[in-house]
Amino acid sequence: MNKALEGVRILDMTHVQSGPTCTQLLAWFGADVIKIERPGVGDATRSQLRDIPDADSLYFTMLNHNKRSVTLNTKSEKGKEVFTKLIEYCDVMVENFAPGALDRMGFSWDKIQVINPRMIYASVKGFGPGPYQDCKVYENVAQCVGGAASTTGFDDGPPLVSAAQIGDSGTGLNLALGIVTALYQRESSGRGQRVECAMQDGVLNLCRVKLRDQQRLAHGPLKEYPQYPNGKFGDATPRSGNASGGGQPGWIVKCKGWETDPDAYVYVIIQAAVWNQWCQVLGREDLIEDPEWATPEARLPKLEQAFALIEEWTMTKDKFEVMDILNPLNIPCGPILSMKELAEEPSLRETGTIVEVDHPERGKYLTIGNPVKLSDSPSNVQHSPLLGEHTDEVLSEIGMSEDEITAAKEEGAV
Ligand SMILES: CC(C)(COP(=O)(O)OP(=O)(O)OC[C@H]1O[C@@H](n2cnc3c(N)ncnc32)[C@H](O)[C@@H]1OP(=O)(O)O)[C@@H](O)C(=O)NCCC(=O)NCCS
Repeated sequence: MNKALEGVRILDMTHVQSGPTCTQLLAWFGADVIKIERPGVGDATRSQLRDIPDADSLYFTMLNHNKRSVTLNTKSEKGKEVFTKLIEYCDVMVENFAPGALDRMGFSWDKIQVINPRMIYASVKGFGPGPYQDCKVYENVAQCVGGAASTTGFDDGPPLVSAAQIGDSGTGLNLALGIVTALYQRESSGRGQRVECAMQDGVLNLCRVKLRDQQRLAHGPLKEYPQYPNGKFGDATPRSGNASGGGQPGWIVKCKGWETDPDAYVYVIIQAAVWNQWCQVLGREDLIEDPEWATPEARLPKLEQAFALIEEWTMTKDKFEVMDILNPLNIPCGPILSMKELAEEPSLRETGTIVEVDHPERGKYLTIGNPVKLSDSPSNVQHSPLLGEHTDEVLSEIGMSEDEITAAKEEGAV
């Protein structure tokens, strides 16, 4: 079966996480992703956080499936010649180097457009234009400057970063969307264009509800926050612990075994529509009609008590029992699943969300497959390329003879 992006060639200059997540996704959709890496060195993540000596790390392999790897020194004269041919050959070029790196290499956007007017040139940077545009940025920096850290954590604790890589992988998703949108527009315009995604913007976009709350603060306390009714609100959106960001109050409560199991917890939501069911589960039918409890407004100042009542009950059950009892009653809830539990979950294996891959150097390992499922474009996960595995293959595709390839190797360009 054909894949959605078959025929699209991507010149992949990405490294670390944000860029590679984007190009991996495009490769799963069928694009031919040609990853350019420095000869002898490659993407720095190949050797970072290594668990098996001399084998590509899981950090690298889990971000670079279904790609081809070409080694090329784009700073040497010969390397620049080859790179120019690759720009002519490809539809999209993606990079996430520190600001200005491509310009320093001699490949500005102006120049790229001259070489290939249909080229879509996509970049991730830490910041957009402004006072910090020249700064290098990693995941956690992005979370801090994008509003996530200041609004995550408990009110009496320091700012907290999330384990979810919203700065890197989150921005990679934005970039992939920008690229396919630009490819679509090229169908009618005939022209390529520049696609730019700043990590700060990507994180801020995901923290939209917190900017909402910043503005609500001007009109009174945030009544769904755990600080209400006893705590004080300052002039900026505070950290709200595990409170829900929406209109239905939620919290994480303990389950049976919490004393020894760090993940024996469940997230529960007191959705207004299921208050009756909650009262029945808790054996507190008296609260169904009690005006002190019956409406969402009446409950807002008592959320702490409400979650304490629920926790009394959840502590008598394990998290899966809670799920089994609440789900048939339409009460939204979710067990806190550990990575171990997720890795072993059969349904995620069946859908291809968690996939076992065989790698020539490291053997079998688990990875996350394509989280976007298309009915006409299946995703099969192939192991990440070894450094330079496809150099000869790709160079001959762009018209270089065997002698030319040998000469380029001797010069150290590839
Ligand atoms: C992630 C980041 C902080 C890493 O910084 P770094 O390891 O110092 O790497 P840089 O991006 O500065 O690039 C390293 C150099 O290698 C060079 N290089 C990369 N590939 C090359 C190749 N194939 N041949 C020759 N030189 C190459 C670059 O041109 C650059 O050289 P320069 O500094 O002389 O211009 C930085 O790339 C960055 O801020 N990127 C943008 C934001 C981002 O994506 N961050 C998230 C990463 S998950």
